Amino acid sequence: MRMIFIGPPGAGKGTQAARLVARHGIAHISTGDMLRAAVRAGTDLGREAQRYMSAGELVPDEVIIGMVRERIQEPDCARGFLLDGFPRTLPQAEALDAALSEAGIALDHVLVLEVPDELIVQRITGRRMDPETGEIYHLEFKPPPPEIADRLVHRKDDTEEACRARLEAYHRQTAPIIPFYEARGLVRRVDGVGSLDEVAARIEAALGA
Ligand code: AP5
Repeated sequence: MRMIFIGPPGAGKGTQAARLVARHGIAHISTGDMLRAAVRAGTDLGREAQRYMSAGELVPDEVIIGMVRERIQEPDCARGFLLDGFPRTLPQAEALDAALSEAGIALDHVLVLEVPDELIVQRITGRRMDPETGEIYHLEFKPPPPEIADRLVHRKDDTEEACRARLEAYHRQTAPIIPFYEARGLVRRVDGVGSLDEVAARIEAALGA
């Protein structure tokens, strides 16, 4: 299965992607995670990306496109992949299209997770990540066990100000790619409001349909 996961920041893409890739045995390709790894490693790419990420802006297309084009050719993608956070602009969608056609592979689904803006700020500001396991928690909605509280990370772009900029970038640059995939009958819209299990069940139903 090859799919794209689209949704506003903090919609629950990373949370649901972890479940989906485990269930379907496919690779999880998160451009946000790849960029954060580059920032931690202090590479040229990481230094360039950091400026945009902390302001809540998108990293330039040419940086991201090359990174994903290489990643989808790696062996763990042979059984399928879930692209989480890519494509995010029309040029990225067109570049992905070209790379997939070149490789002779097609997309099966484009999953759009819908969450209203007013819930997003609450989800983002309460998010904490465990750097040891990668598990995503929320102080209220998915409380972390107290014994790991000291090592939890609060992302630099999870402030209210950066979150509003990310939401604006989503509506202006990313949401317009949905019709690109709608025209091909690939879009499955899923309501992202509800418990983690309720949303997971809706996603599985949408993929089975
Ligand atoms: P990225 O890391 O992709 O961030 P994002 O799309 O903004 O998404 P998030 O990771 O913030 O949220 P999520 O939807 O995964 O939500 P989560 O599951 O954590 O990108 C970061 C930055 O990198 C971008 O701003 C940009 O600068 C750059 N970038 C990345 N890709 C790029 C690209 N292709 N082009 C250009 N630039 C790019 O959930 C959020 C919180 O809510 C958690 O605390 C979770 O526990 C909680 N939660 C989840 N589900 C529920 C639920 N059902 N009910 C209650 N709480 C819930």
